[in-house]
Amino acid sequence: MTATKAPTIFVACGSIRPQSYTRMAMELVCDELRKQGATVDAFDPRGIKIPFLGASFPETLEKDLQKRVKKADGLILCTPEYNSTYSSVMMSIVENLGYPSVCVGKVLNLLGVASGGIGAIRALDHLQTILVHNGAIVLPGSVSIAGVHKIFDEKGKCSDKTSEEFIRSVASSLLFYLRTGKVNQVGIKKV
Ligand SMILES: Cc1cc2nc3c(=O)[nH]c(=O)nc-3n(C[C@H](O)[C@H](O)[C@H](O)COP(=O)(O)O)c2cc1C
Repeated sequence: MTATKAPTIFVACGSIRPQSYTRMAMELVCDELRKQGATVDAFDPRGIKIPFLGASFPETLEKDLQKRVKKADGLILCTPEYNSTYSSVMMSIVENLGYPSVCVGKVLNLLGVASGGIGAIRALDHLQTILVHNGAIVLPGSVSIAGVHKIFDEKGKCSDKTSEEFIRSVASSLLFYLRTGKVNQVGIKKV
């Protein structure tokens, strides 16, 4: 499916930590989306108090979240790696998209960050598996950032140009796919 108008992209952050590196990386993604003419619908779970599924989840929020995802032309999910997988905040977001999920047939790109040396590859792998199970189309070449605490300062400025380009490519790969129907391999690092 190709979008002709400016696409709306739903972007979600899977960390509520103060000074979250996931949020810092997500800001770069949102900036790149806007630069390339997309409308950004950023979902920041801070202060929303997402409970575990079934524990009196505010119905309006659930409906709002699902409505926003339904409306979006594409999605970007940003997760930290915690305990070798994606965060519980990200899982809560996914669970509250319904089952069957409103992600069915939606195109997604993923970004994972970790302080460890091998990055967030396990978090991304697990997240991709559940999203595909839910009927989403997850683009190849999810972006994993290792040693994330070394590339951002406390104000969220990225000091590493290559990493910043790599993070921004999450946005450009998704927009490229939505505009052309083709997969852009920009997310795959040249060696
Ligand atoms: C509970 C917990 C588990 C973590 N597990 C891992 C891990 O398995 N691998 C890793 O590289 N980093 C791990 N980390 C470090 C995080 O990847 C790092 O703190 C990252 O900045 C988290 O993203 P955030 O700042 O957006 O919360 C863990 C951190 C926490 C708090």
